[in-house]
Amino acid sequence: MFAVAFALVTGLSLVSASPSFSVHEQRANIAHGWARVHRPATPSAILPLKIGLKQSNIDKLHDHLLDVSHPDSENYGKHWTPEEVKAYFRPSDESVDVVREWLVEAGVDRGRIELSKGEHWVQVKDFTVAEAERILNTEYHVYQHAHGDTRLGCSSYSVPPHVQPHIELITPTLHFNGRPPRLTSDSNLISLNPTPMIYPTATYESLRPATVRFTTSPRSQLIRAASQNSFAIVEYTPQAYIGSDLDLFFANFSPSLVGIRPELISIDGGVVQTEEMDFGVNIESNFDIGYAMTLVGPGQPLRLYQVEDIPEGSAQLLSPFNDLLDALDGSYCTEDGGDDPSVDGTYPDPAPGGYTGLKDCGNKQRSNVISVSYASNEADLTPFYEIRQCNEYGKLGLMGTTFIFASGDSGVSGNDELCVFPNGTQSVGAPLFNPLFPANCPYVTGVGATQVNPGSTVFDPESAASLTGGGFSNIFALPDYQKKVVEEFYKFHAPPYGSDRYNNSQRARGIPDFSVNGVNCTVVAEGRAIAVAGTSAAPPVIGAMITLINDARLAAGKSPVGFINPAIYSDAFKGAFRDIVSGNNPGCGTDGFESVEGWDPVSGLGTPNFEKLLELWTALP
Ligand SMILES: *[C@@H]1O[C@H](CO)[C@@H](O)[C@H](O)[C@H]1NC(C)=O
Ligand SMILES: *[C@@H]1O[C@H](CO)[C@@H](O)[C@H](O)[C@H]1NC(C)=O
Ligand SMILES: *[C@@H]1O[C@H](CO)[C@@H](O)[C@H](O)[C@H]1NC(C)=O
Repeated sequence: MFAVAFALVTGLSLVSASPSFSVHEQRANIAHGWARVHRPATPSAILPLKIGLKQSNIDKLHDHLLDVSHPDSENYGKHWTPEEVKAYFRPSDESVDVVREWLVEAGVDRGRIELSKGEHWVQVKDFTVAEAERILNTEYHVYQHAHGDTRLGCSSYSVPPHVQPHIELITPTLHFNGRPPRLTSDSNLISLNPTPMIYPTATYESLRPATVRFTTSPRSQLIRAASQNSFAIVEYTPQAYIGSDLDLFFANFSPSLVGIRPELISIDGGVVQTEEMDFGVNIESNFDIGYAMTLVGPGQPLRLYQVEDIPEGSAQLLSPFNDLLDALDGSYCTEDGGDDPSVDGTYPDPAPGGYTGLKDCGNKQRSNVISVSYASNEADLTPFYEIRQCNEYGKLGLMGTTFIFASGDSGVSGNDELCVFPNGTQSVGAPLFNPLFPANCPYVTGVGATQVNPGSTVFDPESAASLTGGGFSNIFALPDYQKKVVEEFYKFHAPPYGSDRYNNSQRARGIPDFSVNGVNCTVVAEGRAIAVAGTSAAPPVIGAMITLINDARLAAGKSPVGFINPAIYSDAFKGAFRDIVSGNNPGCGTDGFESVEGWDPVSGLGTPNFEKLLELWTALP
């Protein structure tokens, strides 16, 4: 139903040397908010062409990841070094040669073709629209966003059939949609920026304890290996925490943290800016950092990956996840930054006030646990774009990093209540469910929200929160570790919807993996305590739990847990979650899915029992 890759067409070529083309990527729809202007691109305009080479052995990533993360594997916890990962997945010399020779035969001077430092991309200097149209058998047009921003793009592109097996994707082509226009005023920012997936639900007279079932953790005894351990929260500029808000929160819940701040790791000029301060800009960071630090306590420093400079950060509605990946893995990023300059940040940034330094490329420290409370709609980006990034999360998992992403706050619909038409266009009121990226990626842990029912306490059974994002991916296949629970879900609780609503093939990745309380959580913003709700609450809380578990393992001379999904779905971990059996996640004009016995696409496996998880993971090798 989405952009179909690999639809083979044969056509007459304009280049005699390449008589046939295979369509590599195409989109029938135009990305949300964008329209094609009735104006072709100027033939002499320069396109920063980049060809992403096929990574060697990428089809074996799934098995290798399971090999180091499944509790039954004899290689459990034996993570790979970055050098091993780089060497194993490095594109082959053959792929580099095939792509180079194709370009040369098509008339590109050899001296203009270069391989990126990470050896994953072939770049062509001074590539023009005219060359791109001829060599990729396409037409470039001017596209314009509803808010004015314009860029060059196409709706499909092709390569010769013998080249296709050697490439993953080519940019800039159809992926221009990820970057919305620069916002012009603060009032726009508030109404347009959907990235903080937390919204206020009520205001309280005074602070009351957060209802996170974690308050009794013996964490002060747990922190033994802080110097070897690391836990990071990701925030995207201009989102920023306010120190005085953190201190008010700490004063109430963890007095020993008053005055303590996370360690800032600035990526691509990321700053904790204080020029723009309001609820929408501060709430996410205040929440994530307050909870993460309180739950791990003062013994374990928290890192803050603050991503993007102010001009780039203010420009987008979607988060530039690639910029973080570029900073952590030098083999993934391209030298001059951004896997796709029309989607991802480009540095040095020529905009006024922009970051003048070089793009961060593999020079920032990885962390054992990385918590991200931001998400895009799956339908916002093309399958190849998401697959490439998902594989990168898998490669970092192979190195021992745990990635935790929120599953979204609009039930079965996407951000802004957008659902999808069969032609791929997103609209409020469209029929198809719209899961979120990157929680849809089978190599990350996607987490949702539950709630304590009115009149109940934290010790009573919870329900799934109606806002919680969940469902099945239209892009990613069902991973092995999830097969059993998804099979049982369909056997006993098949949803009352057909393929006109969601991918009901029973072969699609299910979301989320598990959940924690995310409704009426206390946070301080603008000097006041308020209650907020959202799946944004889940990554920092779960990240803190995994960090404490890593602490115990590191203290015992073991490795961090790394990619956790194969473990949490295994038989050994059956008793480690409290099943959630009530609630549903409405959206797209439906009641969504039902939370039922066993795993379900609303609450996942349920809520974690920290003590049990700690015991199980410390017992593993
Ligand atoms: C996609 O389908 C919807 C609903 O039928 C229609 O309104 C819209 O114009 C279509 N968009 C494109 C680009 O074909
Ligand atoms: C959240 O708090 C509000 C205000 O006190 C209350 O009306 C609502 O029932 C609470 N929701 C849950 C799920 O506890
Ligand atoms: C559903 O998911 C499967 C597995 O990823 C995929 O092969 C299939 O194309 C998807 N179907 C649709 C309609 O997206």
